Amino acid sequence: MNYNFDKVPDRRNTFSHKWDYNKFEFPERPDAIPMWVADMDFPCPVEIVNAVRERAEHPIYGYGTMAEDSERLVAAWQKSRHGWEIAPSWVTYTNGVVPALSMAVRAFAEAGEGVIIMSPVYYPFHKTVVNNSRVLRKNYMKYDGKRWGIDFDELEKLAAMPDTKLLVLCNPHNPLCRVFEKEELLKIGEICLKHHVLIMADEIHEDLVFKGYRHIPIASLSSEISNITITATAPSKTFNIAGLQMSAIICENEELKEKFLSALGFDCIPSIFGAVGLKAAYGEPGCVEYLEQVLDYMWENYQVLDQGLKEKAPKIHVQKPEATYLMWLDCRELGLSDEELYHFFVNEAGVGIEMGHLFGEEITGYVRMNIGCNRATIHQCIKQIEEVYVAHGF
Ligand SMILES: Cc1ncc(COP(=O)(O)O)c(C=O)c1O
Repeated sequence: MNYNFDKVPDRRNTFSHKWDYNKFEFPERPDAIPMWVADMDFPCPVEIVNAVRERAEHPIYGYGTMAEDSERLVAAWQKSRHGWEIAPSWVTYTNGVVPALSMAVRAFAEAGEGVIIMSPVYYPFHKTVVNNSRVLRKNYMKYDGKRWGIDFDELEKLAAMPDTKLLVLCNPHNPLCRVFEKEELLKIGEICLKHHVLIMADEIHEDLVFKGYRHIPIASLSSEISNITITATAPSKTFNIAGLQMSAIICENEELKEKFLSALGFDCIPSIFGAVGLKAAYGEPGCVEYLEQVLDYMWENYQVLDQGLKEKAPKIHVQKPEATYLMWLDCRELGLSDEELYHFFVNEAGVGIEMGHLFGEEITGYVRMNIGCNRATIHQCIKQIEEVYVAHGF
């Protein structure tokens, strides 16, 4: 099926966080174009809509259970998309990846012990460590003028601290749009193995990788790395079904898996619609066609944004994305403080971005912009940014 992503439904008054919570997120500009929370404005694949619709016809929405072949479908997806051979028995489920991160932190580090994150990173990574009274150890990402990379010397120092127990890895990386390469992942694995640090790999963006790049699940690199890793995946970003709250957690090491699940204290009962969504997402061939089309459309969105800003607001630079629809904009050349930058984008331009410093306190002069929207919205954002840019005389 061919999708027309130029045409998007109105999402107002649909219980949408992005659209209906917007007025609370940006109280001074409730009309700001929502370019923040990470979902897309496109309808999800028709196969998923039909499956959910069919189940919704049945008028009882009690506790759910997974389809019998779900684990096999998860395994088949990993094999066909990422070349990773897993056994269906390695798969379990949680109601979202963020809860899984929190479970891993509680399962694998005691209060007062250290957990490494690579900063900047998706902000719940920080919160899940601190709110669970574990010690946050930040491995700061480095920018070489073109690309962000890992500071391996620092990573090794943090991993070598005797009470460091866990690394929470984000690959592909939100918000830096990086797809880590094999050599980088091998080095991470080597350091963690050497210092007995476990890995919680958040790979939720695994499928949203642009041409020329390949996502490599870190656990796929060797049986030794697989043995110390729990991988969180989901069809949620891939197919725009985050509201169904379903993620597939993959772990070869049975002992680790049991410990991870014990952090919840009881079995995680899936939502009916999450179970239905996952089965359709990974089982219906039409969903793959959707994904290819979404990736092409998003890549064009990036190109339009990049070109538009180069022409109309050349001091704002879009980082070339390797993955994700969350663009990382380097605005340092504007010379604004973060407060001024927020004012510039949100209150003046009416473009509802997220500030870079939310992802890491050390970050200034960056914003994150979600381009999971139709092309007309990208053009509108460029126009609104240009007007303010010109008015400021940049
Ligand atoms: C890296 C990363 N992990 C997890 C999530 C959220 O996962 P969930 O909605 O399944 O809790 C997001 C959403 O943006 C994300 O970017």
